[in-house]
Amino acid sequence: MNPLLSASDLHVVFPGRRGGPPARAVDGVHLDIGAGEIVALVGESGCGKTTLARSLLGLVRPTSGSVTFAGAPLSYRSAALKAYRRRVQLVLQDPSGSLNPRHTVYDAVAEGLRIHGYGGDERAAVASALSRAGLRPPERFFLRYPHELSGGQRQRVVIAGALVLEPELIVADEPVASLDASVRGEILALLLRLRDKLGLSALVVTHDLGLAWNIADRVAVMYLGRIVETGTVEEVLAAPRHPYTRALLSVLPESPTAPVVLAGEPPDPSRVPAGCRFHARCQVLASGEAERAGLASACRTRDLPVLNGHGREAACHVHGA
Ligand SMILES: Nc1ncnc2c1ncn2[C@@H]1O[C@H](COP(=O)(O)OP(=O)(O)OP(=O)(O)O)[C@@H](O)[C@H]1O
Ligand code: SF4
Ligand SMILES: [Mg+2]
Repeated sequence: MNPLLSASDLHVVFPGRRGGPPARAVDGVHLDIGAGEIVALVGESGCGKTTLARSLLGLVRPTSGSVTFAGAPLSYRSAALKAYRRRVQLVLQDPSGSLNPRHTVYDAVAEGLRIHGYGGDERAAVASALSRAGLRPPERFFLRYPHELSGGQRQRVVIAGALVLEPELIVADEPVASLDASVRGEILALLLRLRDKLGLSALVVTHDLGLAWNIADRVAVMYLGRIVETGTVEEVLAAPRHPYTRALLSVLPESPTAPVVLAGEPPDPSRVPAGCRFHARCQVLASGEAERAGLASACRTRDLPVLNGHGREAACHVHGA
């Protein structure tokens, strides 16, 4: 399969704060997203999910590595980026933050068309996007303002604003984090329908493994700037290999295993540890399991290869096979 979007050995390094060491927010990532595929990118706060997503959208220029879309490397010239952003749309996590309270629903959805100089029937395009986002009949919503809508309806307006340009891929950064459970379910069902009907691809960025389970075809688990485990949803979430993925899953209410409390400091991308970057917090190392396998010293001193971004993989000396 040729991926629709592909990141290759991507690095994003931010200058250090107050003269401190630079932050390696994305530190060597390969990631493929196929046509019609939903990939969930999961990991705790600060692991680099948004930075990776923004670099895939061309909003952050990687320090090194490349992004390829439909076989062509991303160009950072402004006209090329504008054309790219029509094909790959961002949906932000907080619908109220991404909607101007003084713009009607119609104007919010039409904005992208106007930016891109759309020459067709604007009213029909807006109505069709609202309808595809589940706001029906669309005309009833044209003159409403964000404060007159529910949280779920506002999120649908944001999705309609992305769909109006008929993108091939949506990058959704925590699209339902601020919504309650029943609305979450509806929005997820909508994303799945869009994949099935329109063949839309999506990268869904989330802290929430339960959400990933419900929506994604494939999962990429990120820790401190790297992807540490990939595979299908069933592979990664039903049979996790990496100790970090296992720890994340163990705290879900439905987990069959006892919750694993991660030891050590939360990760800091300006201080990436030597060896396996997870070693100071790893329960497999702390419990002596790595020692018994003769791999404790590798855990502490030997970095792991960057995963290739597709297939079934885990970056762990002990459980990586
Ligand atoms: N412009 C910036 N300058 C310096 N450091 C930054 C910048 N943007 C992000 N970072 C740092 O890079 C790391 C990754 O941040 P990022 O926002 O990508 O994480 P995230 O996984 O999306 O977190 P969250 O789940 O909280 O949204 C963090 O340590 C953050 O402090
Ligand atoms: S390589 Fe070692 S420290 Fe890293 S996750 Fe695997 S067992 Fe834990
Ligand atoms: Mg984020």
